[in-house]
Amino acid sequence: MPGERRSHLFYQTRRRRPLLDQARGVYIWDVDGRRYLDGSSGAMVCNVGHSNPRVLDAMRRQMEKATFGYRLHFENEPAERLAAKVAELSPAGMDRVFFVSGGSEAVESAIKLARQYALAIGEAQRWKVISRFPSYHGSTLGALAITGYTPMTAPFDPMMRAMPKVPAPRAYLDGLDPEDAETGRHYADMLEAKILEEGPETVLAFMVEPIGGASTGALVPPAGYMARIREICSRYGVLLIHDEVMSGGGRTGRFFAAEHWDVAPDICVVSKGFAAGYAPLGAMAAQDRIVEPVLDAGGFIHGFTYAGNPLACAAGLAVIEEIEAEGLMENASRIGGLLKARLKGLMERYPMVGDVRGEGLLLAFELVSDRRTMRPLPSELAAFDRLVEIAYDNRLIIYSRRTRGGYEGDHFLVCPPMIATEDHVDEIMDALVTSLNTFMAELAPAAALSA
Ligand SMILES: Cc1ncc(COP(=O)(O)O)c(C=O)c1O
Repeated sequence: MPGERRSHLFYQTRRRRPLLDQARGVYIWDVDGRRYLDGSSGAMVCNVGHSNPRVLDAMRRQMEKATFGYRLHFENEPAERLAAKVAELSPAGMDRVFFVSGGSEAVESAIKLARQYALAIGEAQRWKVISRFPSYHGSTLGALAITGYTPMTAPFDPMMRAMPKVPAPRAYLDGLDPEDAETGRHYADMLEAKILEEGPETVLAFMVEPIGGASTGALVPPAGYMARIREICSRYGVLLIHDEVMSGGGRTGRFFAAEHWDVAPDICVVSKGFAAGYAPLGAMAAQDRIVEPVLDAGGFIHGFTYAGNPLACAAGLAVIEEIEAEGLMENASRIGGLLKARLKGLMERYPMVGDVRGEGLLLAFELVSDRRTMRPLPSELAAFDRLVEIAYDNRLIIYSRRTRGGYEGDHFLVCPPMIATEDHVDEIMDALVTSLNTFMAELAPAAALSA
C-alpha cells in the first residue's frame, strides 16, 4: 500500500499516492498495473498526451547534441526557433520572447519587465499591479502578492507588499447574464474605479487570466469584458498582462485564450501546456516597444539559470509542431464542445451541479447546495476534496479547488489532453457519474442527520 511505503519526500500534505510506472496518450499506469484516465492532464499540463513518440524523438535528437548551454555563454537554435514560433503565434508587435522554467517564473518576469519599462520611460512612481479576486498567478512571493486566494496568501501577508484586487467577473454567482455586454462593462468598470482610487499614475499593470484557471474554475469572461479592460488599461497607461499559463498552448481551441476576443495584451505569459509536461518550460512574450527601452536603459535585470536551455526548447517546439500537424486545437474545440454538453447534461440528473463552464478542453463544473441562489455546499463536507478522491478510486483523475476565494465552494476541472476522442469522453462521463453517485450516497446520511 502506498501509505506503508517509506519516503523521504514531502509535499503539501501527508496524503500518499501510488508510484507512477508509465504513461501513454491519455492514460497513466501505476507500478501495480492500475490504469488511470488523466482527466485533468496532470494540472492542465499534458496537452498533447503522454509519451508522444514525435516529441520524444525531437528531445532525443537534441539530447544527443547538447542538453544545456548557459544563455550568457551561448545562444541556441531550439530557443531561437521556439521564440520565432511564439512571436508568430502572438498578436502583432509581440515579437520579443523571454524563456523561463515554469508559470510562477513567467509571472515574476512579467512583473519585473513591466516595472523596468516604467523606470526606463521615466515613470518610476508606477509600481502597483492590480489583479483579480479570486485568481492564481503562482507561488513565489511576487506572484503570490498578486494572487487572490486567501488560504495560500494569508500566511505570507506580512512578507509581501499588498497589491490591489478587483472582483473576478463571476456573473453566474452574482445573478448576472454573462452574454449581456452590460455585465462585461459592470465588471470592467470596477477596474477603472480601482485605478482611480489608487491613483492612475501609481498603477503599473493589470494581470488577468483570459479564461480562468484553478482559482475560478475555467471562468469565461462576460461579453465585452476583455475589450473593455484593454481600453481602460490603454487609457491610463497601465500595462495589460495576460496570464495564459493555464489557458495558453491551445487547450481552449486557440493558441492563446485571448484570441477568442481578438484582444492583444502588452505582455503575455505561458507555461504548463507550452512544453506539455515534457520539460519544465515557460515563456513571456512582450511588445517590442516595451523591451527596447529596457534594453536601452542598461538591460533586463532578471533571469533564471535553466532559462531557454536547448532541451526544454526542443520539447516546446516539438509540442507546438505536434499541435499544428495533428490539428489538436480543432480537436480540443470539437471534443471540448462534446464534453461540455455531456457535463451540462449532468445538471438535469444532479440538482447539486450548479454550473458548467469553460471553453475547448478547459472545462469545469461546480457543485452547490441550491442552484437558484448558488449557495455552496457546507464547507465541512470538503466536496472539492472528497469527489476527487472518489473519482481517483474509480481511476479517473480530475482537479479541484474551493470556489469562493478558498474557504468554501467546490469546482472541478475536467481537462483531458487535447488528443482525447469521443470514446474517452464516454469513459470520463461513466467514471464521473459513478463517482457522483457514490458522493451522493455518502451525503444522504449526513443530510438525514441535519434534517
Ligand atoms: C494561471 C496560472 N498562473 C501561474 C501559475 C503558476 O505556475 P507554476 O505552478 O508552473 O509555477 C499557474 C499554476 O497553476 C496558473 O494556473
